[in-house]
Amino acid sequence: MASYDVIIIGSGPGGYVGAIRCAQLGLKTACVEGRETLGGTCLNIGCIPSKALLHASHQLHEAEHNFAKMGLKGKSPSVDWKQMLAYKDDVIGQNTKGIEFLFKKNKIDWIKGWASIPEAGKVKVGDEVHEAKHIVIASGSEPSSLPGVEVDEKVVVTSEGALKLAKVPKTMVVIGAGVIGLEMGSVYARLGTEVTVVEYLDHITPGMDAEISKTFQRTLTKQGLKFIMGAAVQKVEATKTKAKVAYKLRKDDSDATIDADVVLVATGRKPYTDGLGLEALGVEMTKRGQIATDGHYATNVKGIYAIGDAIEGPMLAHKAEDEGMAMAEILAGQKGHVNYGVIPGVIYTHPEVASVGQTEEQLKEEGRAYKVGKFSFMGNARAKAVFAGDGFVKILADKETDRILGCHLIGPMAGDLIHEVCVAMEFGAAAEDLARTCHAHPTFSEAMREAALACGDGPIHS
Ligand code: NAI
Repeated sequence: MASYDVIIIGSGPGGYVGAIRCAQLGLKTACVEGRETLGGTCLNIGCIPSKALLHASHQLHEAEHNFAKMGLKGKSPSVDWKQMLAYKDDVIGQNTKGIEFLFKKNKIDWIKGWASIPEAGKVKVGDEVHEAKHIVIASGSEPSSLPGVEVDEKVVVTSEGALKLAKVPKTMVVIGAGVIGLEMGSVYARLGTEVTVVEYLDHITPGMDAEISKTFQRTLTKQGLKFIMGAAVQKVEATKTKAKVAYKLRKDDSDATIDADVVLVATGRKPYTDGLGLEALGVEMTKRGQIATDGHYATNVKGIYAIGDAIEGPMLAHKAEDEGMAMAEILAGQKGHVNYGVIPGVIYTHPEVASVGQTEEQLKEEGRAYKVGKFSFMGNARAKAVFAGDGFVKILADKETDRILGCHLIGPMAGDLIHEVCVAMEFGAAAEDLARTCHAHPTFSEAMREAALACGDGPIHS
């Protein structure tokens, strides 16, 4: 039996980042992981592999649509699906091994197996019981199923099965126009699959700024994705090679069906806490099945903490990472803190979509007086040079003080560009601060500055 200051359960972005920070702050740390490799959903079956497939399929899109325009003639590449999956697996391997290296470097013990908590201060893995002053649950989330839909990860798949289909399907129905549905739907649409997205709401990407959401849907439609909106999926019937999706249109209650070779269920995720023994311990849960925590990630049971997808808040790897670091600082006696008002959200389609802070809809509801600074990528020379003029940046600032309240954009490298606004918001900056900052030319980031200028005396290039 080993004894630790901290045992973290789960090695996803919340768990592994938390473990590294705990170790850096001098705490004797172990991390329990039952999967063969470290990194959790994000590295093994989520963020990283999907980004590999998005990258590869985007290259194909460029070859098919833009190469000839630039004088690059010749046959477009054909898809060797096995090789594409091998590339994706190699990317996973490099990243998960990287975490293993970081664990060794920081002297963190990887306890291999699935953990349960028989009592506060004890973590059981297999037949062994380990002791820890603090136990942190970072067990993440899993896809939430839909009633009437049985997932076999071959014909009816979640994001996990969608990353390793036996072949590129001819047709695919995606249930849910959220982040997973649109990223994976984009991958397959680019590879030649006829993709139809069936969404319950009348707009895609719930919670996103409405103007961006509309533009995004229009852009994806131009790329070949089809949308059936306001449609509640009732059930999916599947054989070994095909599936039939039954849905009800909300506007008139009419029933309809659609067939597909593969159905991707992307209707959200739920906390994964199976087998931890939380009920017996009396750990309080929220109504939505998350572990309830206070502002310092402590549960109601002394010595047990929780972070990441298993607790409240957006299910995002970087939110979990920040909580991992804050939790470590708290356990080490420092003042860990996460600013939940400045957590960016990114969708890695092409163009990318990114946002931070409040949306116009939220500001209206709050009754806050705000101004809008907008700039189209059509006015950005660099974007035009690389066929990326579609999209725009929108900065929302307080009408009186000019303080930046939010930023929403669709366009090239949006997921990277958003961070200058994140930094600005962390410093409580005004739009004018951003507008007066020299931006290198020619860069996509000039569009950010122009949107900031649009909050004041006006942009130059529109
Ligand atoms: P989501 O919550 O983003 O979207 C689910 C969609 O399914 C919603 O639009 C909802 O209205 C729809 N829906 C639910 N029931 C339905 C029904 N019966 N019929 C039709 N439509 C229905 O969930 P998603 O895409 O599965 O993602 C799960 C989590 O993973 C999210 O929290 C997301 O933020 C996170 N994630 C983040 C990524 C990123 O940051 N790039 C990438 C992948 C996942």
